[in-house]
Amino acid sequence: MKIAVLESGERIASVAADMYCKLLADKPSAVLGLATGSSPVPLYDELVKRYKQGDVSFKDTTAFLLDEYVGLPAGHPEGYRNFIERVFASRVDFAPGAVRGPDGTARDVRQAAEDYEAAIRASGGIDLQLLGIGTDGHIAFNEPGGSLSSLTHSQVLTEQTRIDNARFFDGDVSQVPRFCLTQGLGTIGRASSVLLIAQGAQKARAVAEMVEGAVSALWPATVLQFHNDATILLDEDAAHQLKLRDHYQAEWDAL
Ligand code: GLP
Repeated sequence: MKIAVLESGERIASVAADMYCKLLADKPSAVLGLATGSSPVPLYDELVKRYKQGDVSFKDTTAFLLDEYVGLPAGHPEGYRNFIERVFASRVDFAPGAVRGPDGTARDVRQAAEDYEAAIRASGGIDLQLLGIGTDGHIAFNEPGGSLSSLTHSQVLTEQTRIDNARFFDGDVSQVPRFCLTQGLGTIGRASSVLLIAQGAQKARAVAEMVEGAVSALWPATVLQFHNDATILLDEDAAHQLKLRDHYQAEWDAL
């Protein structure tokens, strides 16, 4: 893992945006994996800024969302497909239909999961997968206790995740769906590169487990220890339980 502890959210967004600009300059038709939650929002704002400056274009790019709630009505503002449209996709120049997410309104969620996995494969695979991390160590919606090699699947959300995400539903846990569709840990592992952003002390334990803990279904993000091109961008608070922090910094500075 390449791990950087950066001084501010702005700096994290800037370093992350540099990675996108470089990838899209080298490969304008790259396939992006997009994430929701609050962690990636400053990055999306930075990419919109750079797009407006003419520094990057998404017109030949396709993108796949990590996950989606099951059971929300199609137009619900907190549906992840709607979230990404509002926060990012509609603000840059993706072609119509270029950004896809799992179909959380499908009658047959198992089929929807298989179709989504097949669509990712048919695209040639994800070049750069963006990730956040849950306080319980989930990535996408892969909750603790699942297979470390799962493909896109439906999933029951843990109570902790529903409590964490209640902030997007007027603070009312009962409004947070109980089910979701998510890329699996195996799906994420197939991305050519992954970029995980975590900020805040509430993520510190999950970050320390992810980077330095034993690989375990109890902390799903630990599977990233097997990835050969994973970049982790942290603020001070999220990094404060890392034991080998100075070493990571030295490695980062030497890149
Ligand atoms: C949700 C999403 C995850 C995200 C996590 C953390 O559960 N499914 O993809 O990483 O929230 O979100 P935040 O960045 O808001 O802390």
